[in-house]
Formats: sequence, structure tokens, C-alpha cells
Amino acid sequence: MNIAVIGASCTPYGEWWDKSLRDLLAQAQLAALDDAGLAAKDIQEIFVANMCAGQLSGQVNLGAMAADILGIHIPSTRIEGACASGALAIRAGIAALESGRAEVVMVSGVEKMTDVDHALATESLMSATDYETEGFVGATFPGLFALVTRAYMHQFGITREQLALVSVKNHKHGALNPRAHFRKEISVTDVLKSSMVADPLTLLDCSPVSDGAACIILSTPAFAKEIGKHGVNIIASTQASDTLALSHRKEFTQFYATQQAAQQAFMIASIKPSDVDLVEVHDAFSMAEIIALEDLGFFERGTAAFATAEGKTVLNGQLTVNSSGGLKAKGHPVGASGIGQIVELVQQLRGQCGVRQVNNAKIGLAHSMGGLGATVAVHILAKEA
Ligand code: COA
Repeated sequence: MNIAVIGASCTPYGEWWDKSLRDLLAQAQLAALDDAGLAAKDIQEIFVANMCAGQLSGQVNLGAMAADILGIHIPSTRIEGACASGALAIRAGIAALESGRAEVVMVSGVEKMTDVDHALATESLMSATDYETEGFVGATFPGLFALVTRAYMHQFGITREQLALVSVKNHKHGALNPRAHFRKEISVTDVLKSSMVADPLTLLDCSPVSDGAACIILSTPAFAKEIGKHGVNIIASTQASDTLALSHRKEFTQFYATQQAAQQAFMIASIKPSDVDLVEVHDAFSMAEIIALEDLGFFERGTAAFATAEGKTVLNGQLTVNSSGGLKAKGHPVGASGIGQIVELVQQLRGQCGVRQVNNAKIGLAHSMGGLGATVAVHILAKEA
């Protein structure tokens, strides 16, 4: 497959109490149009990703909002797949292009999570798991990931310090990213001493709740060439799912949906994991990054924490992981996150990332997860030779 990414933009992520949902979405959409050198009238269809606005912002029907922002009244649809909403919206955009229905589409995503009481944000996020068996009885996302973390530590004998190094690395990268929610380097001691959220996960093992928006513009390769905006293409887009409830799984320490989506993506792109230069993985919790790197095929099972401790996943290491700072430090406005990952890959492949530029970046992979491994999408992007 070959779909051109001709525009990409992302707002800074953080606590934006002076900006509305609409303000953030408008900022990302207009900047992406600008980046593509297009006018609103050139867009033929819009897909906008969002998870929580109904509950946290009192707003649904974001499809109409996204089109309204551009002043055009074209087909525009809101897509939801929990924290993977953005990645699923990208797949919807690709389908519209591949069907021949459109030549150029906009895919945007937005979330506004910091204006409400944290308990409400936690409850809203928890609706991404099986509410009947998990949310209703009081489990939280950090709580469920703490169970996964304990099981992994027990099975593979990794230390708490090794796990903390995931957050240390991602904060190091985030400090280099002007759009990151947290631009502060942290140490292993900081992680271990930060407040306990769900044993063994502390505050600094968790991604934050953030406000933010991201937008990309996709087109057929022919359209991209015609307007001189070719250069970065999506060469694989896959999706898989698993049981909604963690309690219905046979195993906690590997996620089937990531493995399936990854295997298919590598097959479609006709490449192997060792061909990839950088990845943006869904590090909602430090353990999530470790498991994702193994499920995606970059490291053998039980070895990714050791590889992290050896510095293999740092910027310009063996495989650059989360050069943006990841969800941990760049932030996690859930509806925008999957698209924000692609913005980072596009800017890296174009060579626009300044101090956090990955040397000679040619192939990037994005991994996005909705719920606790229940919905996963993988995208592979390549720089045109
Ligand atoms: N990493 C680093 N710093 C964080 C942080 C995080 N994840 N979350 C909050 N902070 C900072 C805040 O900026 C604040 O700093 P300040 O005192 O300098 O202003 C301080 O820590 C306290 O923030 P507060 O908002 O009171 O934190 P909290 O205890 O309400 O929330 C978590 C912290 C970790 C519980 C919350 O961020 C969370 O629930 N994260 C997980 C989100 C999630 O489940 N996402 C879905 C995953 S798929």
C-alpha cells in the first residue's frame, strides 16, 4: 500500500485551561492545512478522533465541529476506539482514499481532559475496558496495569529500577520536544520516590491526562506528486483486537492484538523489525512500552527492560523509541495521541526534529492501543527514496 502524508501538525500537549475543545482542534487542523499548502476547499472528507468529549466536555458530534472549523460542509465523521481512536481514524481516512471515493482527506484528533475533576477523567478512561466486570467494581487503568506489571516482574525477574528507566528515557526525549506536556528530565530516584498510584506503579510510571490536538492530511500518491508534497508515505496500516476484559485473557504479559497487527504490518510493508529506525509506542505506563517492544518483534520476550537499561532504546541508540517523549512525557490527550505519533514520525522522516532528530531516519512505526490491549493499530511510514 502507499498513502502520502502531505500535511502534519500537532498542538503542544498540556493543561490548556484557556483553550476550548474547538480551539485546540482548529489550531491543529489549520496548521496541518498550512503545512500541506492546501486550502480548506481542497479537503474532500474528514475523520476526527475523540474518546471522552461527550463525558468531559459535554460535546459529541465532533464530525460536524471539525468541518465547521474549516467552513466547509463535507462528509465528516467522528471515530472512537478509546486511546487508539486517532489510529483508527487514520485507517478510516486510508479506506476513503483506497476506495477511490476521495483523493485527499483530513484526519484530526482532539481531547480536553484537564478541566474536570480527576476522578471523572479516570472514570471516563476506564470506560475503555470492560465496564461490567472491571470498571463497575472499582478497577482503574493504573490499577489494571499494576497487575500486568507485577505479573511481568515475577515472570521475567526485572527490577523496579529497570522499569523506571523507561520513564527516565521518555522524559529525556520529552525535554527536547517543544510540544511535550513535561519538558523535565527525571532520574530513577525521582520515579521511585514519586507518589504511589497503584503498587508498583508510581506517578512517574504513568502517562498524564492532557489536553491537545493533532492533524494529518492524507492523499493518493498521484495527488501528492501533483502538488509537490510527496516524500513520506504510509506503507502499512493494520488493526487487531483482543478480549475487552483483561480478566478474560489467558496471559497478562503479552498482548495478542499487538502481535497480530505487527506481523501483518511487517508483511504488508515487506520489511523486518530490524529495518525500522524509530518507533512511537503506546507507553501509557512504563510496563506498556516494555511489552509493546516485545510484541512488535523488536526484542525477545522478557528482554526489552534489559535492552532499555543498556541504552538500546534511547535517541539514536539501536532503535529510537518514543523520540517525542511518548505518551509519558509528550502527554496523552487520548483522541489525539494516535495521530500525534504519526506527526512525530513524519517530522522525523522529513528531518525536521532539530535536537531530537534521529540520524538518517528512513522507516518509522507507530503502535497505538485502545483499552488494555483490546484494540491495537500499527502504522509503518517510509521516507521516499
Ligand atoms: N507524570 C509526571 N507528572 C505528572 C503526571 C504524570 N503522569 N501526572 C501529574 N503530574 C504532575 C502534575 O503536573 C502536578 O505537578 P505540579 O504539582 O508541579 O503542578 C503533580 O504531578 C500532581 O498532579 P495531579 O494532577 O494532582 O496528579 P494526579 O494524582 O491527579 O494524577 C495520575 C496523576 C498518574 C494518577 C494521572 O495522571 C493518571 O491517571 N494517569 C493515567 C492516565 C491513564 O490511565 N490514561 C489511559 C491509559 S491508556
